[in-house]
Amino acid sequence: MTTQPRQWWQSTTVYQIYPRSFADSNGDGIGDIEGIIGKLDYLSDLGIGVIWLSPICASPMRDNGYDISDYQAIAPIFGTLDDFDRLVTEAKARNVGILLDLVVNHTSDQHRWFLESRASRTSRYRDYYVWRDPAPDGGVPNDIQSTFGGPAWTLDPGTGQYWFHQFAPEQPDLNWANPQVRAEIYRMMNWWLERGIAGFRMDVINLIAKEPDRGITADGPKLHDYLRELHRETLAGRDVMTVGESWSATPEGALLYSGRDRAELSMVFQFEHVMQQWHETWGKWQPKPFDLVAFKRVVTRWQTALADDGWNSLFWGNHDLPRAVSKYGDDTTYRVESAKMLATVLHLLRGTPYVYQGEEIGMTNVPFTAISQYRDIETLNMHRLHLEAGLPESDFIVGANANGRDNSRTPMQWSAASHAGFTSGTPWIEANPNYSSINVAAELDDPNSILAHYRRLIALRKQLPIIIEGRYVSWLDEHPEVFAYTRTLGPQSLLVLANFTAREITVDIPTSLRGEWRPLLDAKPNTLHDRATLGPFETITGLAERTL
Ligand code: GLC
Ligand code: CA
Repeated sequence: MTTQPRQWWQSTTVYQIYPRSFADSNGDGIGDIEGIIGKLDYLSDLGIGVIWLSPICASPMRDNGYDISDYQAIAPIFGTLDDFDRLVTEAKARNVGILLDLVVNHTSDQHRWFLESRASRTSRYRDYYVWRDPAPDGGVPNDIQSTFGGPAWTLDPGTGQYWFHQFAPEQPDLNWANPQVRAEIYRMMNWWLERGIAGFRMDVINLIAKEPDRGITADGPKLHDYLRELHRETLAGRDVMTVGESWSATPEGALLYSGRDRAELSMVFQFEHVMQQWHETWGKWQPKPFDLVAFKRVVTRWQTALADDGWNSLFWGNHDLPRAVSKYGDDTTYRVESAKMLATVLHLLRGTPYVYQGEEIGMTNVPFTAISQYRDIETLNMHRLHLEAGLPESDFIVGANANGRDNSRTPMQWSAASHAGFTSGTPWIEANPNYSSINVAAELDDPNSILAHYRRLIALRKQLPIIIEGRYVSWLDEHPEVFAYTRTLGPQSLLVLANFTAREITVDIPTSLRGEWRPLLDAKPNTLHDRATLGPFETITGLAERTL
């Protein structure tokens, strides 16, 4: 095996900001760029090297910016282009890069291209989008469904054709088969890259090569051709990082995106570990109990498949997912212990870790009780469809509280001041009432806080090459309560042994893991005998001179 030179994005930690909910500088209830600038010292103290910003471009905000109406303008609620340039400069001064969210599977229906496209069948922009004639009965061209519920086709009465949208009707899909569309996108990307950004997170990149006439949405045959062209036209020769979102990615597919000789992307976000926890028919709206064995199987498959080529992204949460500690840990009695355990397990895996805003202080899901408290377009659509299908309202709220996207979109909890110190006005979505005890100010100076633990993990990654390069081996695969793995680099190994339950667990230790482990995160050395007892959500970590 040849060792490749390490890339900077393999040894960094990324922090995701959902700008709308992060910090409001002017009291209008919506987070903004100025608010982010004000928190850069907090972020650089945490030790992160990259900020991924969820979309900040001009948008009617049907999907909170994932519906862009002008790729080269900043949404006024977030600030101006000058503010953005200042953010890039101020971040760079702290060795932090800015990753933009590239949303190019679709635009907003208010984008100039779509307005022109819709105006007539002969518009020179008609082919920028996907238009089809009605079926012979006048209905939709086919039965492809949109992710937010309902058909993926909407009729434009003016021109008598349907437009294609994999998300809301207000998010028409761009037609990537049209070379002019691709050229416009590359031009726009270069414009941002020249402003000094560190790269892009690419929204639903697996969907761009759709071929709706053949029923193909994800992973169309042209997908990798497009990505290689995109790389050639924009990324080649620049030292930037890219991460593509793909809900359909398999480990084999990830090698195509992120293989070192592929000239496509740095890495992808995959979701097998997330979806494997969903209900067969009702998906995330009918929560299933967490199955650790199945979960570990997915993690191990990805760690193993990308051991020699390609690269993993590591994350528990993002703006589309519930809060990590609520989903995988215990957000009441053992909130602090379980949040630390989850952080340790994730940050010591092989790949680039992503921290979603508020995760570093153990923010939890929201206890909303009425649909009127929700803001998310997907949640509101699904609510309507579930009720139409005869499901009781209370069941839907249970599902939304478990897995709905607003769980991660409530205001960042900075302090015990009103609205969590997020805004001096009225926030666009209610703060989680637990902000009076769970907030940054309460954790900042506490060496035992979740925040302090994240700082230690992020710092450790900069000190120990084994965290970046070490080979992953899983242990106790069939154990339903404990996650155990080792990493090995040369003569050294690192051990992680984590209890995923609120109970004390005694576990048989495999022979080769017995013996002495030097302290890694905690102060005490650990000697493992034939059996070990782990307290609720306890994690044992250590380093040893041995090859596993
Ligand atoms: C991605 C985004 C999500 C958005 C969707 C449509 O999945 O993460 O927030 O709604 O794409 O752009
Ligand atoms: Ca604001």
